[in-house]
Amino acid sequence: METQVLEIRGFKVFRGALDRDRQAAMAEDIRAVAGAAPPFSPLTPWGKPMSVRMTSAGRYGWYADRRGYRYVPEHPDGQPWPPIPDSVLAVWDQVTGLERRPDCCLVNHYGPKARMGMHQDRDEADFTWPVVSISLGDDGLFRIGGDTRGGRTESVWLQSGDVVVMGGEARLKYHGLDRIRPGTSTLLPGGGRINLTLRVVD
Ligand code: SIN
Ligand code: FE2
Repeated sequence: METQVLEIRGFKVFRGALDRDRQAAMAEDIRAVAGAAPPFSPLTPWGKPMSVRMTSAGRYGWYADRRGYRYVPEHPDGQPWPPIPDSVLAVWDQVTGLERRPDCCLVNHYGPKARMGMHQDRDEADFTWPVVSISLGDDGLFRIGGDTRGGRTESVWLQSGDVVVMGGEARLKYHGLDRIRPGTSTLLPGGGRINLTLRVVD
């Protein structure tokens, strides 16, 4: 499979980075993660449930409620998060070449109507580490902004098997997911889209 690299405002988009077999193996691994740590809808600081259902793997999971956004060492049910699957760590190794490995793999499940508003990823201690994003399942319209909220944006459809590296000048740029295109992939038995983001937390 040919991988094309597209760069938009410092976001490196590796199109087709994962062939179908790797996507399928990863989807199975993520099903097991979701089995051990059931996805839930975190609350925004305004008390409204997010449309995206989330869970995590790794030493830390990302969590949100009325008190704000933060990393926590346990699932809300009190269990530690399951380990990050090797199939996922292999992608981190492949695209970053870093010795240090991520502490958290945030798993976002998008149903047909789910979206993610424009935000920065800034709950981590050190922004010199990149964030790596992996897309599985249906296409998702990813929007890229600037270093502050508002202003002009650019959008790109992310497909199953695409990997995005947000590092350097892109690390603190606003981004979000406007919508998915239901039924564009046969990878996930229940349809929808899964996005994995790998982060070094502390
Ligand atoms: C995110 O930035 O948290 C999600 C990005 C995506 O779903 O592609
Ligand atoms: Fe993000």
